[in-house]
Amino acid sequence: MKERILDYLKKEHEYLSGDEIAERLGISRQGLWKHIQDLKDLGYDIVAVPHLGYRLESSPDRLFTFEITHGLNTKFIAKKIQYFDYLASTMDMAMQLGIQSAPNGTLVLAESQTKGRGRMGRGWFSPKHKGIYLSLILRPKISPSASSVLTLLSAVSICETIKKLVGLDAQIKWPNDVFIGNRKIAGILTEMNAEVDKVNFVVIGIGLNVNNDKRSLVAHATSLKEQTGEAVSRVALLQELLRRIESNYTLLEDKGAQPIIDKWRNLSLTLGRRVKVYCQHKYIEGQAVDIDADGSLLIRKDSGLMHKVFSGDILHLR
Ligand code: BTN
Repeated sequence: MKERILDYLKKEHEYLSGDEIAERLGISRQGLWKHIQDLKDLGYDIVAVPHLGYRLESSPDRLFTFEITHGLNTKFIAKKIQYFDYLASTMDMAMQLGIQSAPNGTLVLAESQTKGRGRMGRGWFSPKHKGIYLSLILRPKISPSASSVLTLLSAVSICETIKKLVGLDAQIKWPNDVFIGNRKIAGILTEMNAEVDKVNFVVIGIGLNVNNDKRSLVAHATSLKEQTGEAVSRVALLQELLRRIESNYTLLEDKGAQPIIDKWRNLSLTLGRRVKVYCQHKYIEGQAVDIDADGSLLIRKDSGLMHKVFSGDILHLR
């Protein structure tokens, strides 16, 4: 019911009479008043004027399910959303839901995380209401070895979203860190539940720094607010990200991995650079020349030998 009341209030910029809203929704005036109080408690600034009615002055920047769903228009991504004020990690919750047969596209969202996880055993700082912390359950019909394209797809979708919403050029540092300039703005963590030759489900975890001020950012990180100088709507950003993920996923299903890899190449911060990667207890240094369909990085060593690196920590040397 709250969604429907908000729908009316958002469409109308003038006062809407309580009698009219209550009648259209088939509830009593008292019932409407109760819902309005609940919405105010959630942070919606709704003004009530006797004889005129209600008017929505402003909405809080909260990732409430009904805010995300409103006008989203996706076919399968985020048709089911699990929203939490806080979680240890959205990854744990999503892995659990995946095992319990949550449908393809199920989204787990948290306003903050107490134990946000990053790659290589690192953490992900997740202060309340500042960033987007999500995990998406996907059930692709691909082999486990081909599933890393989903990480590339997510990185591409983040860059496209940032470009569309705030006009900034974000780039991808292999394998899946999103940078603006020389600072990290988003990270992706992919976990999988699979058998030898079959993926049961993949969980894509995305952390995106949105409205963090300098003091709520870790070293070498940035946020959209820091980059643009103004607060950015997390709801609008998340909706666009979900649409992009869906359209790139559909592209992957229709045309295979190649178009996604081409997009990734165009957004790469790593290709063409001299790099040093720590991988399987040794360093590999050389020119980053390309990525493979499985997401691995191809490095040409000074000896001319090509080296394929599946994962690791990378340093850009120049
Ligand atoms: C990285 O850059 O190392 C990956 C960071 C991934 C962070 C996100 S935040 C939402 C999801 N839940 C987690 O615990 N981690 C991912």
